[in-house]
Amino acid sequence: MTSTFPPGFLWGAATSAYQVEGAVDEDGRAPSIWDTFTAERGMDTGADACDHYHHWPSDADLMAQLNMNAYRFSLAWPRIIPGGTGPVNRAGLAHYDRMVDGLLERGVTPVPTLYHWDLPQALQERGGWTNRATAEAFAAYTDVCLDLLGDRIDTWLTVNEPWVVSVLGYRLGLHAPGEKDLRTSILVGHHLLLAHGLATDRIRERRPTARVGIPLSLFPNYPATDDPADVAASWASDGYTNRWFLDPVLRGHYPADSAELFERLIGPMDWVRPGDLDIIGNRPDLIGVNYYTRRRITASQDELPWRVLPAQAGVPVTDSGWESVPEAFHELLVRLHRDYDVPMLITENGGVWNAQPDSDGRVRDTGRVHALREHLRALSRAIDDGAQVLGYLHWSLLDNLEWAEGYAQRFGLIHVDRSTQRRTVKDSARYFAAVIAANAVID
Ligand code: NOJ
Repeated sequence: MTSTFPPGFLWGAATSAYQVEGAVDEDGRAPSIWDTFTAERGMDTGADACDHYHHWPSDADLMAQLNMNAYRFSLAWPRIIPGGTGPVNRAGLAHYDRMVDGLLERGVTPVPTLYHWDLPQALQERGGWTNRATAEAFAAYTDVCLDLLGDRIDTWLTVNEPWVVSVLGYRLGLHAPGEKDLRTSILVGHHLLLAHGLATDRIRERRPTARVGIPLSLFPNYPATDDPADVAASWASDGYTNRWFLDPVLRGHYPADSAELFERLIGPMDWVRPGDLDIIGNRPDLIGVNYYTRRRITASQDELPWRVLPAQAGVPVTDSGWESVPEAFHELLVRLHRDYDVPMLITENGGVWNAQPDSDGRVRDTGRVHALREHLRALSRAIDDGAQVLGYLHWSLLDNLEWAEGYAQRFGLIHVDRSTQRRTVKDSARYFAAVIAANAVID
C-alpha cells in the first residue's frame, strides 16, 4: 500500500528563537530566563546559536529548495516587549515582519509559536510563571504580535509544551528557572494553560478565520508488566504527562484522578479561580503534537507513584538514548483522535543522531532517515485510521541549542558547523524533500 498524505498537507521543519537565533544583544533584545540560567550554570548559551537572526534568508532558501511549504519558528517575547510588559520594541518586531514576508515570498507558510520558553528576565524578577500577572502579560504580548503579523498568519501556536516547562523548569530544576518544587510546578502549569486560554481568546476575537493550537509534549505511557500496580502507575503517569494538559484544554476540566493525587501531595490548588477553566477550555482548532518517545512505567513508592524505566534492551535508540518507537506514535495519534476528536498538527518529531560530515562532505545520518521513514509510515497509518492530521513539521530544521544539553545533541535535517555557521544538507533532508515532492512515504 502506498502511504500518501492528504492534499494541502503542511510539510516542513520547526525551530525556536533561543535555540537558533543568536544575536541576543541586537536590536534592543533584553535577556530572557534562558540567558540568565545558562550563564549561571556555565552551560552552552544561545548567544550566537545558529545565527539564524542573520541567516534566515538563506535558511529560508534552503527550506524552499527542500520542498518545504511550512516553517514553525517562535517569536521572541524579549525582542518584542523587552520588559515583558510596557513599551514595544519596533526593531524586534521588524525582524519578524521581514521574516514572515520572506517566507511567504518563498511559498513557505509561517507557523509562529508565541512562547517557546524565553520568558523576559524582567518578568522573572516579578515571579515569572508563578505570578498570574504573567499570563495577563502574555495576552497583551499576543495582541502586539496580532497587530503586526495577524494579516499574514493563518495558524498560531500559543505556549510550547507546558508540561516540560512546569516539570523540567520547576520540579526537576533542569531547565530555566531551575526550581525544584512540586507545588510550584503545578501552579506554573496552571498559569501556562491560562496564558494559552487568554491568548486563544485574543486570537479568536481579532482574527476569527485564523486557526489556533497549543503544542503539547505527548508521551504514550505503557505499563512495564501487566501487574495491576504497574497498570495503575502507567495510567497515573499518563495523567501527569498527557491528560493534565489535554483535558483542561479540550474538555474544560482537570482529570479527577490526577487532581486527587496532586491535592493529596500539595494541598488545595487554590490558584485555580472561578472561570479559569472556561478560559482554558475554549477549545482550540488544533492540538500541536510533539512526539519523540514512549515511557515504560513501573509502580514506585516515590513522591509520585510511578517510575520511568530506561530504554528496553533490543529497542532501537537515538544517540541520546531515547527509544525510537514509531508504533507508539501511531497509537498516540489514534488515541488522541478517539478520546478527543481534535484536528492535529505534528509540530515536532525527530531525535538526536550526531552524524558529522564525511571526508566527501556528505552527512550520512542514516539513523534519522530510517526513523523519519518509519514515523511517517506510522503517521500515514494513523490518518488511514481516521486521525485528522494537518501536517508534519520535523524537529528540527537545524542542529541547534538543545537547551541544557547544549550543542552536542544534533536534531537537525541540516548540519550546522558553528565555527563557520556553514550549513550542510544531510541525507535525511534530501530524503524528506523527496517525500514532500511525492506527498507520500517513499522507500
Ligand atoms: C521539545 C522542545 O519544544 C524543543 O525545544 C526541543 O529542542 C525538542 N523537544 C527536543 O528535545
